[in-house]
Amino acid sequence: MTDSALVTGASRGIGLGIATRLAQLGYALTVTARDANRLGEIAGHLRREGAADVHVVAADLADPATPEALVGGHEAEFGTMRALILNAGVGTAGPIAELPARRFDKTVAVNLTAPVAVLQAALPLLRAAAAADPARGAKIVALSSITGVYAEAGLAAYGATKAALISLVETLDAEESGNGVSATAIAPGHVDTDMSGWIKDRIPAETMIPVDDIVEIVDTLLRLSSRTVLPKLVLTRAGAGLYGA
Ligand SMILES: NC(=O)c1ccc[n+]([C@@H]2O[C@H](COP(=O)([O-])OP(=O)(O)OC[C@H]3O[C@@H](n4cnc5c(N)ncnc54)[C@H](OP(=O)(O)O)[C@@H]3O)[C@@H](O)[C@H]2O)c1
Repeated sequence: MTDSALVTGASRGIGLGIATRLAQLGYALTVTARDANRLGEIAGHLRREGAADVHVVAADLADPATPEALVGGHEAEFGTMRALILNAGVGTAGPIAELPARRFDKTVAVNLTAPVAVLQAALPLLRAAAAADPARGAKIVALSSITGVYAEAGLAAYGATKAALISLVETLDAEESGNGVSATAIAPGHVDTDMSGWIKDRIPAETMIPVDDIVEIVDTLLRLSSRTVLPKLVLTRAGAGLYGA
């Protein structure tokens, strides 16, 4: 059976890097983001890179209907799910004292509520993939952030959602890993993508963590047997002093 994966936020940055590697490994892919035109171009790119098939869903993860539609579409196309990459996220900067409630709610909706709902909808498909291949199991990778592990001034809303994502992943491991479905939260410092553009005047892009390093880790995680669980990985930017983004 062909392996299949669902990648959120696959149109740019880390998600595009991961989706490209999975295509090169021959996965059948569901890829999602909001920008339909860009996703169409990405689908062609992923097919050329070797994806067995590509299913595109252009949707806003802040819309409560998106997670069911996304996973339902994946099930209709591919039946089971060997890997779920919960990558899409939004950044929100600003001190707690001045944090607008609407921005907080939007950050929680995209970074936490949507991943929980996608995970809930996808669990039956992940369990089915694990049952079909118990030695490999099925994997979830969630993109958290180092700010979810070590608090950073000015990133309260973002860091809170990323800390919650780590807790979600660890609980999933406690509940599901005995049956072959396990999850890892990757918690990096600044990665060189569009998202970190706001701080590139102070932290040069060439000193940030490259997308390729995250991709290598995801590739390795997907090759681990179902007997090993790696709940959380903190990736520190060289020179940042271990606890800073
Ligand atoms: N870059 C960093 O420094 C860094 C560090 C630590 C952790 N992370 C985490 O890593 C993940 C990926 O980050 P990145 O740097 O690759 O981000 P990015 O370059 O900004 O890409 C974000 C991706 O998510 C999609 N997306 C954003 N909002 C969405 C929404 N409401 N609904 C559906 N899709 C949405 C975007 O596509 P559309 O705009 O077309 O929707 C895009 O594909 C995020 O969870 C981020 O928090 C990033």
